[in-house]
Amino acid sequence: MTQDELKALVGQAATAFVEPGSIIGVGTGSTVNCFIDALAQMPVRIKAAVSSSQQSTARMQALGIQVLDANEVESLAVYIDGADEIDHAGCMIKGGGAALTREKIVADISQRFICIVDESKLVTTLGRFPLPVEVIPMAAAQIARRLRKLGGEPVLRAGVVTDNGGQIIDVHGLSIGEPNALEREINQWPGVVSCGIFARNKASVCLLGTAQGVKTLTF
Ligand code: 5RP
Repeated sequence: MTQDELKALVGQAATAFVEPGSIIGVGTGSTVNCFIDALAQMPVRIKAAVSSSQQSTARMQALGIQVLDANEVESLAVYIDGADEIDHAGCMIKGGGAALTREKIVADISQRFICIVDESKLVTTLGRFPLPVEVIPMAAAQIARRLRKLGGEPVLRAGVVTDNGGQIIDVHGLSIGEPNALEREINQWPGVVSCGIFARNKASVCLLGTAQGVKTLTF
């Protein structure tokens, strides 16, 4: 199976976690696009979604799915999103699509995070995928210096401005043995909007697309 076929497979599988008539959280990316397309085909529709990006909002609205502001809901039963890497404890690196801050906000108001990925994203230790960090532009140089001190090689993502007006620094060469501790450390630096480690808001379930079908990992 191709990677695109695996993405379509897990996108479809995620609809099993969606209660018809409910309000759900929806992430961002090519795997989530498959999920949104499958969501629009459900015989009984959801009431609405809270979206993690302008990109997903536009896709859902084009398919007739109502999108609510995060401030209009108190809690969501599920948040469905992809990841750039996920480890065997459900911790993830996210932000390849520059939507990490809104993704973390929607994950934080959700009771369960259903992560949908193809098997190439499952890793023993996070860090092979460069860690995205969203920053306030004025702090970019200082944050890059701090990231270098941690042993990483920071690279400003050229030409990218996030939905929040931030910039993205991609940190290469980190081996993230303690995701919780590193997420906490980076998050407290002035000018960091959010860090792409999702350890505090880790996955509850991972639907892993494999050549043998969808495997369900529970954390
Ligand atoms: C966007 C993300 C995505 O979930 C992540 O990049 C995975 O994307 P894709 O499904 O296209 O591989 O974190 O900010």
